[in-house]
Amino acid sequence: MEEKKTYYVTTPIYYPSDNFHVGHCYTTCIADALARYKRLKGYDVFFLTGSDEHGQKIEERAKKAGVSPKEFVDPIIANAKDLWQSLNISYDKFIRTTDEEHVACVQKVVQKLYDQGDIYKGSYEGWYCTPCESFWTESQLVDGKCPDCGREVKLMKEDAYFLKLSKYQKAFEEYLESHRDLMQPESRYNEMVNNFLKPGLKDLCVSRSSVKWGIPVTFDKSQTVYVWVDALTNYISALGYLSDDDSLFKKYWPADLHLVGKEIFRFHTIIWPIILMALGLPLPKKVYGHGWLTIGGGKISKSKGNYKDPRLFIKDYGADTLRYFILSEVPFGSDGNFSEELMVERRNSDLANVLGNLVNRTIAMTNKYFGGEVSENVHPNDLDNEVIAYLNSLEAEVDEKMEALNLPSAIAGIFDRLKRLNKYIDETTPWILGKDENGKERLNDVLYTILEGIRMCTVALEAFIPETAERIFEDLKVTANGFEDFKFGTVKKYQVVSKAEILFTRIDEEALKAKLEKENEEKMPEHLPLIGIDDFNKIEMVVGEVKECRQHPKAERLLISKVDVGNGEIRQIVSGIADYYKPEEMPGKKVIVVLNLKPLKLKGEESMGMLLTSEYQDDKGHTCVELLESKLPSGSKIR
Ligand code: ME8
Ligand code: MG
Repeated sequence: MEEKKTYYVTTPIYYPSDNFHVGHCYTTCIADALARYKRLKGYDVFFLTGSDEHGQKIEERAKKAGVSPKEFVDPIIANAKDLWQSLNISYDKFIRTTDEEHVACVQKVVQKLYDQGDIYKGSYEGWYCTPCESFWTESQLVDGKCPDCGREVKLMKEDAYFLKLSKYQKAFEEYLESHRDLMQPESRYNEMVNNFLKPGLKDLCVSRSSVKWGIPVTFDKSQTVYVWVDALTNYISALGYLSDDDSLFKKYWPADLHLVGKEIFRFHTIIWPIILMALGLPLPKKVYGHGWLTIGGGKISKSKGNYKDPRLFIKDYGADTLRYFILSEVPFGSDGNFSEELMVERRNSDLANVLGNLVNRTIAMTNKYFGGEVSENVHPNDLDNEVIAYLNSLEAEVDEKMEALNLPSAIAGIFDRLKRLNKYIDETTPWILGKDENGKERLNDVLYTILEGIRMCTVALEAFIPETAERIFEDLKVTANGFEDFKFGTVKKYQVVSKAEILFTRIDEEALKAKLEKENEEKMPEHLPLIGIDDFNKIEMVVGEVKECRQHPKAERLLISKVDVGNGEIRQIVSGIADYYKPEEMPGKKVIVVLNLKPLKLKGEESMGMLLTSEYQDDKGHTCVELLESKLPSGSKIR
């Protein structure tokens, strides 16, 4: 027997979170659709997902919660698995970086690289972003903040071990010349080459002494493995690399596809391939960096509170509505907007009208005219032949689009066929044929052609909306056998159910709109507890005019201002606004000053009061700070 071709596809392993949103579902649904599709095509598929559980951030959150990191993450992981199940994610393995086998594999990998001289001891200084778990050089920072998330970074220095990325740069560049597929889409290839390879790779710090919640380095117990090295290794540890049983590794490696969001593309297309090169392993065939789902054109963000738990959508509309929307809506490779209203619109127009109606009408007619039973169309006319040819061409079209990872376009191809079948009903007018005994033979052929068409489209739909596909197969009473049975005419005879349930009820769009508006109104930001006017009156505030201002000599983020607070009284006030204001633009500004704040010393400089500011997020999601200003004379009281 011929061996089945294998297909190994991965999602990133997710940071443990109780706040998964549709953006997280995006990577996973794409991977799931690809895995399902390859299975339908007869491949032996291994689909991997999992969780990325080490690092400082988890350590800190667990400490706050008063539990061990492992105790902290366990329920979160259970919750994530529950979400994937409710979305019908068909992963073959869920790896946790706290799994014993993974830990052992990472330790062996790092030890091996050390033994062969690719890892050496040095010391590390850099700007560290805790939420992203990334070190940045000074020049990579944007306005002194993390270039990925825009948050604060801190300067850290410590003993550490380094991986000689630079040693492999040349070999990697040569490899890339003949393996352009490694980095997809093309635009991101250019970005990687221009921004990272051309300037020259620096050796990568692969251990930390400051992070305790991590995998211990075997040759230096004061160190743990850098979380990204730990995380990336999941793709081979999951297959048993360097373990007693590496049969899966032998079978599936190299990966056919690592699917990742664009912000972690760099780790997967430079660091990961070079680690593999150093290990003497083949590189993944393709890494695809997809765009983001956005809401209202902006980042989906917890602080903006602009998203719902995806489970609420699944509860209201079913998994397939959500899957269909995110898989078909976002243009290939770019960002795309998510909205509940748009999702419901597409459910109504595509899933209910085009697909649901077709199935229900056809089953109803098959029952009405033939007691649910029709047989093969043995005398197709020109119209039938045209429709049949169009149906038969679907497989090649879907193959091509899926090969290019263009899922929206593959789905569009299927829906074009479904629309063609709806039109075919209008053209053949079964309700007229059914009135006349002489029309019966033709009517059989027409209904058979539609049923076969529905079946064929459903074979392809199974990759994207599996629950619905299963229901349709049940309605048609045929067994699903993937693309093996795709071709028109494979099923010779139909005996359909006597009554099909509605596949997708129509959702009232007006009512939804009203509901969403109401929800928006009710969504109150969180507030502090109420205080009485007496408490408020304890704060003394006036308008003041900045006379002089200078940078704090010991703190980059602080400015020291001399402020006239009325009657010629000058106060020195230190404020954390250096990221937003230059000292030279401060004099002349009229600001709001809190006068009776207890004086304090900030890095050696006395501060007598406080300048009021307001904080907001710009459209990139970066936090900005602005001074509150006033036109009134210095000394004017604020109440
Ligand atoms: O990055 N739209 O994990 P993660 C589309 N642990 N995709 C989104 C998204 C959005 N709005 N928000 C998140 C990590 N994602 C690391 C990976 S792999 C060795 C380690 C995607 O939980 C994001 O792009 O932050 C990424 O592909 C995935 O969710 C996991 O993100
Ligand atoms: Mg992320």
